[in-house]
Amino acid sequence: MDNNERKKIVFSGVQPSGSISLGNYIGALRNWVDMQDIYNCLYCVVDMHAITVRQDPKKLREQTLSLLALYIACGLDPVKNIMYIQSHVPQHAELSWILNCYTMFGELSRMTQFKDKSAKHADNVNAGLFDYPVLMAADILLYKTDLVPIGHDQKQHLELARNVAERFNGVHGNTFTVPEPFIPKVGGRIMSLADPEKKMSKSDENPNAIVLLLDKPEDIMKKFKRAVTDSEAVVEYREGKAGINNLMTIYSIATGKTMDEIANEFAGRGYGDFKVAVGESVVEMLRPIREKTEELLKSPDYLESIYKENALRASVLAERTMEKVRKKVGFVKK
Ligand code: TYM
Repeated sequence: MDNNERKKIVFSGVQPSGSISLGNYIGALRNWVDMQDIYNCLYCVVDMHAITVRQDPKKLREQTLSLLALYIACGLDPVKNIMYIQSHVPQHAELSWILNCYTMFGELSRMTQFKDKSAKHADNVNAGLFDYPVLMAADILLYKTDLVPIGHDQKQHLELARNVAERFNGVHGNTFTVPEPFIPKVGGRIMSLADPEKKMSKSDENPNAIVLLLDKPEDIMKKFKRAVTDSEAVVEYREGKAGINNLMTIYSIATGKTMDEIANEFAGRGYGDFKVAVGESVVEMLRPIREKTEELLKSPDYLESIYKENALRASVLAERTMEKVRKKVGFVKK
């Protein structure tokens, strides 16, 4: 075993359901970039998760490629990391089925995201929506993942993956690595700009609630200028100031300034100035990502070579785990 093989393994993914939000970037993607120099990382575009709610097939294809381009544009190296499309590695679906038989109905019923999503899509509460966390567990367990960089909203799903891994190991002996979540201390939960008590979600119907990574600068500015705050006119990070806390968090990440530095910078100035400064800092943070994504989307052949090559790399690792799992559960070798 060489040094490279002993590095910890990182797995994470984003759904190509619509455009990617500032929440996805700050909560997840940004941290993936830091991890690529330290760990062996797999970053997946989870298109199979996306179809748990109805998607337009043409748009889903476009969004999948756009998300892969965006991964690269954010600074992820497609040679150093394994960056691929989930449906290209069928072992995800295969392991998901097996893990279904080690996951309890009651456990899945307790998932808050299922409750939220089934309320939101009451006309389409399909089995995939219910089973979604098991596919996520399969994604993670397939690669002996040690660390999973995610936002706060995925914590419960990660807990489930850990429980399923432990249960399977308990029955069949040590098979899966039990993964740990990595949730950033700052930015693990970016809130809606229109309702700061709610998570910023890319499926929000109010366009002013979300900043998208590929939004035009003028739209980003407009959204920040309209951001809901409070009536105190004091830029200070403390309880009861959800809107300002959220803007301070975003500004801190975009500029590297601490909360105290931000409070000093805007002492005695109104929220108007502050919102403009936050908007401008986000425009500058996202500008190179947007430009690079647009450029990459003009090279579909390059993107195709990336996802094809990387699906092969992922399949080799996935198959190693599957051979072990099939044997453990008692399937006859092909
Ligand atoms: P998804 O596509 O909803 O979100 C992608 C990542 O973005 C994080 N995130 C946020 N972080 C901070 N603030 C927010 N407002 C915010 N909104 C979203 C999410 O926590 C996530 O890390 N089930 C996953 C995708 C997935 C996955 C996996 C992740 C499938 N398989 C295996 C990790 C490992 C999801 O729907 O993420």
